Amino acid sequence: MMQTVQQIETIAELRRQLREPRRQGRRIGFVPTMGYLHEGHLSLVNEAKKHCDLVVMSIFVNPLQFGPNEDFDRYPRDLERDLQLAASVGVDMVFTPSVAEMYPQQVKTNVSVAGVSEPLCGRSRPGHFDGVATVVLKLLQIVQPDYAFFGQKDAQQVAVVEQMVQDLSVPVKIVPCPIVREADGLAMSSRNVYLNPEERKQATVLFRSLQLAKQRLAGGEELESIRDEIVRSIQAEPLADIDYVELLRYPDLAQLDSVEKGERVLVALAVRFGKTRLIDNMMVTV
Ligand code: PAJ
Repeated sequence: MMQTVQQIETIAELRRQLREPRRQGRRIGFVPTMGYLHEGHLSLVNEAKKHCDLVVMSIFVNPLQFGPNEDFDRYPRDLERDLQLAASVGVDMVFTPSVAEMYPQQVKTNVSVAGVSEPLCGRSRPGHFDGVATVVLKLLQIVQPDYAFFGQKDAQQVAVVEQMVQDLSVPVKIVPCPIVREADGLAMSSRNVYLNPEERKQATVLFRSLQLAKQRLAGGEELESIRDEIVRSIQAEPLADIDYVELLRYPDLAQLDSVEKGERVLVALAVRFGKTRLIDNMMVTV
């Protein structure tokens, strides 16, 4: 039997559709996305279905989180395919607002999370995490889910959202979910379609470098020498252009001079291949 999913385009209609299930005490799970769905997104839905009775997914390419010279206009979009994929994994409602529906007038309120937003992508993409925090809080206000699911692929995003939810007492349980990878280790991303075949091949260096870092951390090596070794291994790929390679304490993303046993270290990479900027990370408990 062909599964279908309910597509809802306005805030008012989504709120109306959720009123009755909420009154009946059905647990609502929420999976925010920017669409162009892949197995990584679908894994969040599978996790949501374990905890919840009703799963809402949003598909919204949020202009607030893109910088002026970033890929907002060319970000990949395929709503028909997304709706089919969402239906196939049992999403109940897909919220697909237009930019005008979400932001009918200039947005004057900005949610800014200090600290965890600042290193890594916060440094390379000024304003990005304000845009993320603002849209995620708005979506949480619209859906009012019991649980919301986020991928560790964007580990810093998880840290930002968790801090925001804690600071603002947002009544939702944030559930971080593991990174889903291609067979050769490349983390799934909507942006992988930008890669040409040679870039795609060389991009496997990200996962190989993370595995190397994990081995070296287990071997008790100095952070600085691990970082140098990762940088060298990435630079061995001629098309790779490093944005950052960092080893930080998780979840506060503070600088680390040395590691203690039991400490959680986030090894985080951002590397450009041609015009495409890829991020990946690995959490290592030392
Ligand atoms: P998007 O990049 O579409 O990702 C939506 C969710 O899918 C995020 O929680 C992300 O971490 C998760 N995800 C992406 N690739 C993954 C992978 N390979 N394995 C596991 N999870 C993966 O992240 C955003 O959209 C936006 O910033 C958003 C939160 C929707 C706010 O606009």
